[in-house]
Amino acid sequence: MSKSLLEWQRGRDGRPPIVAASAYKGGDGKSTFARELAFLLDAVLVDFDWDMGCSSRSMGYRHERYANYPLQVAFEKMSTPRPNIGARRADLIPSYPELVHEQPPRDEVSDHLGRWAKELGRPLVVDTHPGGCELTYGALNEADVVVVPAVLVKESLNALSGMVDELAEYPLIITPNKVDSPPGWARTEFRSIVERYGHQTGPLVHNERWLSKRRLNVAISSAPVPKKAERFVSSMDALVEAVINYE
Ligand SMILES: Nc1ncnc2c1ncn2[C@@H]1O[C@H](COP(=O)(O)OP(=O)(O)O)[C@@H](O)[C@H]1O
Ligand SMILES: [Mg+2]
Repeated sequence: MSKSLLEWQRGRDGRPPIVAASAYKGGDGKSTFARELAFLLDAVLVDFDWDMGCSSRSMGYRHERYANYPLQVAFEKMSTPRPNIGARRADLIPSYPELVHEQPPRDEVSDHLGRWAKELGRPLVVDTHPGGCELTYGALNEADVVVVPAVLVKESLNALSGMVDELAEYPLIITPNKVDSPPGWARTEFRSIVERYGHQTGPLVHNERWLSKRRLNVAISSAPVPKKAERFVSSMDALVEAVINYE
């Protein structure tokens, strides 16, 4: 029987759920999925990507306007950051550029995330930097579900193959993204990577050409959804179902 969102949001053992969006290849769709999932799950988006292409910037946050950053303060003082409240987009704990060299060790990152979810009383969706670093490992180790976007092209599939070997025991939902009539070998390769350790496949997400031209800061899934975005939003709704029913 499928779980309701409210039931899922309560989490387990007094800790609301934590979802990580991760892929070892940049550009496969982590941030796009993370922003939509956080909005649809009514979760707080924690941005662990310090590059200019990060979700915080894409959502309109400009770190240069601020003297201090909620994540930096929270890491230093062991406090809980207060999210920026979004309209038609997820509430956000933004990243900041110095995160590149100011990463607490992974175990501390995991402890912080667990504590924040509890103290905020909200699920978290953590957007990560491509590849492994302390922040990413900390998020992966604390996550109840890891959503992995995967594009069906050679380099992304190579990265995915390495990632599943390293994370064989992790709760991955591997989701084909930007799908646009991939060749047979790529489909076969994708299936064999997903099945290697019995990971779960997420819903297929089509290549949406309008997406790379989009300039709006609001979640794609926020109403009113334009007609051209309906197919993408149904995939995100299906991804939400996969996340909240992950066993
Ligand atoms: N399903 C899709 N169809 C078309 N473009 C997409 C799709 N998903 C993501 N993109 C685009 O691909 C680019 C990279 O996506 P992004 O989510 O920033 O990747 P990552 O965070 O993994 O680096 C963005 O321009 C985004 O709009
Ligand atoms: Mg990103």
